[in-house]
Amino acid sequence: MSLAGRDLINMSDLSAQEIDALMESAAAMAEAIGLDDPETRQSAERLDRIMATAFFEPSTRTRLSFESAMLRLGGGVLGFADPAGSSVSKGESLADTARTLSGYADVLVIRHPKMGAAKVAADAATIPVINAGDGAHSHPTQTLTDLFCIMRTKGHFDGLTVGLMGDLRYGRTVHSLGPALSRLGSRIICISPETLSMPQRHLSQIEDTAAEPPVSVNAIDEVLDELDVLYATRVQIERFSEEQQANAREIAADFVINAALMDRAPEDMILMHPLPRVDEIDPEIDDDPRAVYFEQAHGGVAVRMALVAHLLGLIEQPRDGFRGFATPQERPEEGAPGRARTNAGAGEAKEVPAPADVDCRNVHCISNEERFVSSFFKRLSGGRLACGYCEEPVEEAQT
Ligand code: NCD
Repeated sequence: MSLAGRDLINMSDLSAQEIDALMESAAAMAEAIGLDDPETRQSAERLDRIMATAFFEPSTRTRLSFESAMLRLGGGVLGFADPAGSSVSKGESLADTARTLSGYADVLVIRHPKMGAAKVAADAATIPVINAGDGAHSHPTQTLTDLFCIMRTKGHFDGLTVGLMGDLRYGRTVHSLGPALSRLGSRIICISPETLSMPQRHLSQIEDTAAEPPVSVNAIDEVLDELDVLYATRVQIERFSEEQQANAREIAADFVINAALMDRAPEDMILMHPLPRVDEIDPEIDDDPRAVYFEQAHGGVAVRMALVAHLLGLIEQPRDGFRGFATPQERPEEGAPGRARTNAGAGEAKEVPAPADVDCRNVHCISNEERFVSSFFKRLSGGRLACGYCEEPVEEAQT
């Protein structure tokens, strides 16, 4: 398996074997950086590679853990955390920004409020592009971080029952995590108020690989005693209109996890959260050994080290780990630097020719904002046509 030169836009870009390999490499990275015991930390030699981070939306964990990962690998970082300081504020297109950064760095990490933005950047860039969150669409590196946390605490994915709770409508973390876990053999339960429920197209993705159809409930107590993992999320308040925000906050008040709830929860259940939390987890339970959200966030550095090292072609075999870094002369020619033109992951819906008179009508999709983007489409399982950028279903003209 080689991830060298590839992009990571969606979890469907990765096969189950590639996810396993990344978990193994992340475990090796965790050991090398002394994740569990700082005294055992090894230091990296200088690595002649640069990461660009282009963040058009706020971030604490994702951006800083990517930067920490690259620095711990021995490489360098540059970028911006506020688009107001970049030429995008002068009207530059995202594609031109990505093309330009390709000449300054070896890998590009991008976060953007529009769905499909990372795909536009990847199409324009000549270096590997990593999606660090594109609107309400997808957040694959958070999913890898979540999977790593589950692997370290539970030891496997197969047969686990995982409750995804909170804003399942706009939460990109659960849009990526639910289908990935289902593919790896976990059973998914969606826990949310009706108005924040998981969109059908993600439910279908979960269903495609699930042994039994995903269950959706409106109250945690209906399923609490079945859970191996409870994954809580905040209401994505920035994705609601101003009029809807007060209502969304009110609804979310019924989904708070506190000591009383943890008393009723299974003793071996773990409680995860991608963070930031707002009110959904009471800090009174932070010392409960089942509350693993800060460990989850800390594991993100090792995961992102592994991902970047694979995409840069610095690890070919998972077991090479951190010590296995080739010297520059020994690095495989293929894929480092530069990138493969196509991703080879499993499960990616096939591109289909653009039918006449079909447009993506999703106002949150990058294809409706970015100039010079030509539409492309995919067939979802079940046959519906979807925009290739945001993956939202589109209406086909009746013939
Ligand atoms: C998440 C995100 O940005 O989608 N945060 C993160 O990357 N850890 C979750 C969130 O903002 O609610």
